[in-house]
This record gives sequence, C-alpha cells and structure tokens, in this order.
Amino acid sequence: MVSAARFTGRVALITGGGSGIGRAVAVRLAAEGARVAVADIRYDTARETAEILEEAGAKALPLAADVSDEEAVRRMVAATVREFGRLDVLHNNAAALGREVYGRDLDLTHMDVEVWDRTLAVSLRGAMLGCKYAVPAMRDGGAIVNTSSVSGLLGDTDHAAYGSAKAALTSLTRYVATMYGARGVRCNAVAPGLVLTDVARAVMTPERLAEKAAERVLPHAAEPADVAALVAFLASDEARCITGQTIVIDGGTTTHRPEHAIRQASTRLSFQK
Ligand SMILES: NC(=O)c1ccc[n+]([C@@H]2O[C@H](COP(=O)([O-])OP(=O)(O)OC[C@H]3O[C@@H](n4cnc5c(N)ncnc54)[C@H](O)[C@@H]3O)[C@@H](O)[C@H]2O)c1
Repeated sequence: MVSAARFTGRVALITGGGSGIGRAVAVRLAAEGARVAVADIRYDTARETAEILEEAGAKALPLAADVSDEEAVRRMVAATVREFGRLDVLHNNAAALGREVYGRDLDLTHMDVEVWDRTLAVSLRGAMLGCKYAVPAMRDGGAIVNTSSVSGLLGDTDHAAYGSAKAALTSLTRYVATMYGARGVRCNAVAPGLVLTDVARAVMTPERLAEKAAERVLPHAAEPADVAALVAFLASDEARCITGQTIVIDGGTTTHRPEHAIRQASTRLSFQK
C-alpha cells in the first residue's frame, strides 16, 4: 500500500520533467504530497507537467533549464528553494534523446565528436551539476536519484556515447553517496530497460517490440509509472538505509544468459508458424 504521507512537507526537483519518466515521477511524488519543481530544456512541456500536478491539487513550479549549462542549473536549484523554501529530493533524469544526438550515436568509427560531447554534457555533466548545487541546498539531508539505463551495464552495437555516460552515472552515484552520506544525503540510481513512454511507443516498430519482449523474462514492458514507483521509493525515507546503489528495472532483461533470449525468440517464431 502506498503511504500518502511519504513526501508531505518535502520539495522535489526533477530534470527532464516535461515528458516520459520525469513527468511520471513528478505525478507520483506530487500525489504523495511533494511540492515539485519541474525543469526541462523545453519550458512548454515543463509547464504542461506543472499544470497536470496543479489540476490534481499539488503545488508545482515549471522551470526552463538546460542541465548541461552550469549557470542554468545554479538558477534552477535557487529558483526551487526560493519558491518552496527547501529542497529534499533531486531526480537527475534529463538526457538528450533526440534525433540529432541519440539518433546519431551509432557507429563509433564515424561518430561526430559533438554527439559524444553533447551526450555526456547532458546525462553526466548535467547530473554532476545537479548534485553540485542541490547538495548544499539540502539543509536537512535529502535524496538524489539519477536515471541511468541498462545501456550503462551492457555493450551494444550502437549508442556507445549514451551507454558510456550512463555507466559513468553509476560511478558518480557512488561518489556522491560516499561524499555526502555523513550529511544525510543519499544518492542512488535507477537503470531501466525499455520503458514504454509516448516517445518510445511512437518509434518502436512491432518487430523491435517483439525483439525486446524476447530479451525479457517478464511478459510485460515497463511503463513510466513503474519507474516512478521505484524512484519514489528510493527518494523516500523507506529507503533510508540504501545509498550508492544502481537498481535495475528491466523485466529481467539483464538477469539471464543470452541463450534465453534466443530460445524465447525461436519459441515465439514457432508459435507464429
Ligand atoms: N524510455 C526508455 O526506454 C529509457 C530506458 C532507459 C533509460 N531511460 C532514461 O530515462 C530518462 C528519461 O527518458 P524518457 O524515456 O522519459 O525520455 P523523454 O525524451 O520523454 O524525456 C527526456 C526529457 O529530457 C529533456 N531534456 C533533454 N535534454 C535536456 C537538457 N539538456 N536539459 C534539460 N532537459 C533536457 C527532454 O526535453 C525530455 O523532456 C533519460 O535519462 C533516459 O536516458 C529511458
């Protein structure tokens, strides 16, 4: 059962909160009592998320911020504290997933160095900057949750920049946890496999969805709300003894030997015959 009081009196700041997982986390934390600052490089989408929260009776603050920009991150944290008086939770969730960055993160031997730099600037430097300014603002301690990915745990034939940035987030998570644990600041990460956000649904072909299903142990793919439930748990006092961890949420995609996926795929093919 969800405790309605887990975030009463608390203030959360979510980056990349204008859509997908970030929006689901905003909705979840607000439903559990948090006042929520929703930051996104796209102010229109941050405002949309804030409106959803306010329509549900919560307090929300939409903010425009490019998390790769130090001054923008400093202002984002300052605006949150100015509006709500404190900061308890930071969710470093933004990533450059558009066609110009993630979409060009393909064969390493032909990769533009700008693709590499922008990927790391948003996912890794952005999270570092978030920690840099949020930790001093967490006067009563707090919780940071970074969004990593299973791409940071395993190799693949594309997205080396994205995977490397996400892998480095695991390390940043451990360092921040170690540096500020004594001040009551916890830092953890979530590492999702496929999450069926609106964007993911729009770009995944039926064939790709079937491939992803064959990789999993569980029949169902994660929805943004599933990741939000995990982020909320890690950000709450129920996780008060958990820090420095990267928790995988992937329906079992990374729990088994590759043979399992191959067998699953062939079983499905023989079903279809
Ligand atoms: N959807 C998945 O299958 C999946 C799987 C594993 C990990 N993730 C991770 O989850 C997080 C959220 O992704 P999502 O799937 O919800 O995608 P999404 O594209 O819906 O959300 C990403 C958000 O980040 C914002 N953003 C991009 N660059 C930014 C910047 N420089 N500063 C501030 N905001 C910026 C975008 O505008 C967008 O609102 C990302 O870190 C992504 O890597 C997603």
